[in-house]
Amino acid sequence: MNILVIGGGGREHTLAWKLAQSPKATKLYAIPGNPGMAAVAECVSGVSIEDNDAVVAFAKEHAIDLAVIGPEVPLTNGLVDAFEAAGILAFGPRKAAAELEGSKSFSKNLMKKYNIPTAKYEVFTDAEAAKAYVKKEGAPIVVKADGLAAGKGVIVAMTEEEALAAVSDIMEDQEFGAAGSRVVIEEFMEGEEASLLCFTDGETIVPMISSQDHKRAYDGDKGPNTGGMGTYAPAPVMTPAMVEETKKKILEPVIAAMKKEGRTYQGCLYAGLMITSEGPKVVEFNARFGDPETQVVLPLLKSDLVQIMVACAKGDGSLKDMDIQWSDGAAVCVVLASGGYPKAYKKGYEITGLADAEAEGCHVFHAGTAEKDGKIVTAGGRVLGVVAEAEDVRAAVKKAYAGVDAIDFTDKMYRKDIAHRALERQNK
Ligand code: AMP
Ligand code: GLY
Repeated sequence: MNILVIGGGGREHTLAWKLAQSPKATKLYAIPGNPGMAAVAECVSGVSIEDNDAVVAFAKEHAIDLAVIGPEVPLTNGLVDAFEAAGILAFGPRKAAAELEGSKSFSKNLMKKYNIPTAKYEVFTDAEAAKAYVKKEGAPIVVKADGLAAGKGVIVAMTEEEALAAVSDIMEDQEFGAAGSRVVIEEFMEGEEASLLCFTDGETIVPMISSQDHKRAYDGDKGPNTGGMGTYAPAPVMTPAMVEETKKKILEPVIAAMKKEGRTYQGCLYAGLMITSEGPKVVEFNARFGDPETQVVLPLLKSDLVQIMVACAKGDGSLKDMDIQWSDGAAVCVVLASGGYPKAYKKGYEITGLADAEAEGCHVFHAGTAEKDGKIVTAGGRVLGVVAEAEDVRAAVKKAYAGVDAIDFTDKMYRKDIAHRALERQNK
């Protein structure tokens, strides 16, 4: 099969790497891809992933049999619908289903209607009404811009003043543009966070291995929120019983609800969870694989990813009978970022030691890199994901940091405590 991967970050590098292992994969392309992906896929520049017609035209010209869409924006732009109209199989939800991520108010209203556990909330289009609600509920409280804001439109306010300022910033000063014309204000949930991704064909749900992200920039979960500084899988808080409870109370009901609403959801559904004293509750749904969750989840997948994705995209019922196998071990991903990230940073610095990190037994997934004069240079905030697999999290952490030490570039920044929660549990 000819396979096209859409996107060019660490998640897409991991997807392409895993897809390439399939005996079914004959040729891989990536739009736009990255220098790391070039080892397994032909990277295509000059086609915007936000131009559905151009992407579909490329796919037709290159006889693509399966398209795999990484990021959320093409999904909410209806790229899967465009592929479908052209008769090309595509892995990912259609536009109407991607609303689950694209609009927080849609997603919250759906959860309310179908009794899916999540934080209590109200939706506002009027700033004064939003502020009155904040005053009535008090802090801590969470304020979220409604639309896509690249993970930055969420303010967890520990004081009422902070929450009122967030409402002003989002609604009156339009800090996140049109994404903030509506806000969701919700109850603060206390607990440990985990991510559970699943494959679905719109009917059957197959949970992947659980994982945990580190969203804050600095050690000890301090500093600003980022796209994710590291991950590990599995997350010890997601015991087999907790996975089962999440499947029954959250994943199956939401997939059934989407079907009932005429928005059949096929692809990967990402449930961001808070494990509270009352059980798992939804923090957010994403309509795609997580980044950098994918970097630790897919290395642990033993089955053929192409076969699974075809089953999800076709929706022919074959997913139900598949025996999807996962490794018993663990994986850890440490993100190497450019100093200053998530705020301003410099780029264009040469990266050395990539092969040494691989020699330590790590997979190095590229996120923000470029090729310049035959050298690999930094080209983004999150530059690389250094991933190690081992028999347990402790061994994987050790191996991943050996890989991290082997790689160097100016202003290299990373967290030194990835997986600390899992290790603290092991120490108990
Ligand atoms: P989101 O973009 O909705 O995933 O939110 C970003 C982060 O904010 C989450 O990963 C949580 O750490 C935090 N967060 C969001 N909603 C809540 C909530 N209701 N209670 C506590 N923390 C939250
Ligand atoms: N790592 C969080 C996300 O992909 O949304």
